[in-house]
Amino acid sequence: MRKIYLDHASTTPVDLRVMEEMLPYFTERFGNASSTHSFGRDARKVLDDSRKKAAKAINAETGEIVFTSGGTESDNLAIKGIAYKKGKGHIITSCIEHKAVLNPCRLLEEKGFKVTYLPVDKYGRVDPKELENSITKDTFLISIMHANNEIGTIQPIEEMCDIARDNGIVFHTDAVQTAGKLPLDMKKMNIDLLSISAHKLYGPKGVGLLYVREGIGLKPLIHGGEHENGLRSGTENVPGVVGFSRALELSVKKMDRESRRLIRLRDKLIKGALEIDRSWLNGHPEKRLPNNAHITFSSMEDIDLVSELDKYGIASSAASACLTYSTKTSHVLSAIGLSGKEAHRSLRFTLGKDNTKEDIEYVINKIHDLIG
Ligand SMILES: Cc1ncc(COP(=O)(O)O)c(C=O)c1O
Repeated sequence: MRKIYLDHASTTPVDLRVMEEMLPYFTERFGNASSTHSFGRDARKVLDDSRKKAAKAINAETGEIVFTSGGTESDNLAIKGIAYKKGKGHIITSCIEHKAVLNPCRLLEEKGFKVTYLPVDKYGRVDPKELENSITKDTFLISIMHANNEIGTIQPIEEMCDIARDNGIVFHTDAVQTAGKLPLDMKKMNIDLLSISAHKLYGPKGVGLLYVREGIGLKPLIHGGEHENGLRSGTENVPGVVGFSRALELSVKKMDRESRRLIRLRDKLIKGALEIDRSWLNGHPEKRLPNNAHITFSSMEDIDLVSELDKYGIASSAASACLTYSTKTSHVLSAIGLSGKEAHRSLRFTLGKDNTKEDIEYVINKIHDLIG
């Protein structure tokens, strides 16, 4: 059976070039980067080189890169790390953040911190004016995601990080869905903390980074041998970091061309799907990720469209991967005004490097067969 994977926002396959580069570090080049013998020095050298590569991809300094176990850990380290350093105060975030941001914020509320969850408009955008108005004398952190993992909406991040900088507030962004898809330049943007995950950009699972602007003090969450500048103890995942840096480098290199190609395919899919009666696109029509099409089919009978499409080899998603097994309505779709019923009649398609025009035509046909 034909297999068409349209769930790249949940994870991506490892690029073969990335895997090849990782392989020696599992076997003959297995050293611990803290050891002083030749095996250790070899691991240290490749770790340093990978850090340089990752820093270059986002135009940061090598000393500003902290390798972590992925997006969730990076978000936790950013938010709790700065909060524990401050001890008390006010945080501003949005109500459509990933759980990796929302749940640390909820935990901090239990510990006495104040948190404002900004609403979004019908496209899922935070209003920078509203952000500015929510700042108090106690605000020490603003955390707003670069683009949403469900509906693909891109936030006016540059405006918001400028507001943070003007007010002397640390700005964190979860760039898990945008790294390798949208330009990220730490020298140009007033971002202080930024999270990236490897498995969303054709790298391995279980590795990511937190960019920490020089001078931003964080308290570590994991204590031990003081690896990663004391911010993240634990023997470094050398093969993972090698693969991650290479994957990030490759995605940044082909970003412009690949984004244009994905936008063409995405728009073809949206156009074909919207021919179905009473269907609409969720998220912003233009300010959206090049690979995201999120559609509500409000006329659809109560069928499980993800499972039906799966029977034809098509992988899509009813919500973000971490909500897939939950019957709860997505907090993102509620925030943009969808009812529970509409949310459950919505589907996310996220395209990737191996998708073709023929794939999209096949998917459109199957959607029409099932609900047209
Ligand atoms: C926006 C966003 N943030 C954070 C994460 C968590 O990343 P990881 O799976 O690397 O922990 C995800 C993954 O779904 C995501 O989409």
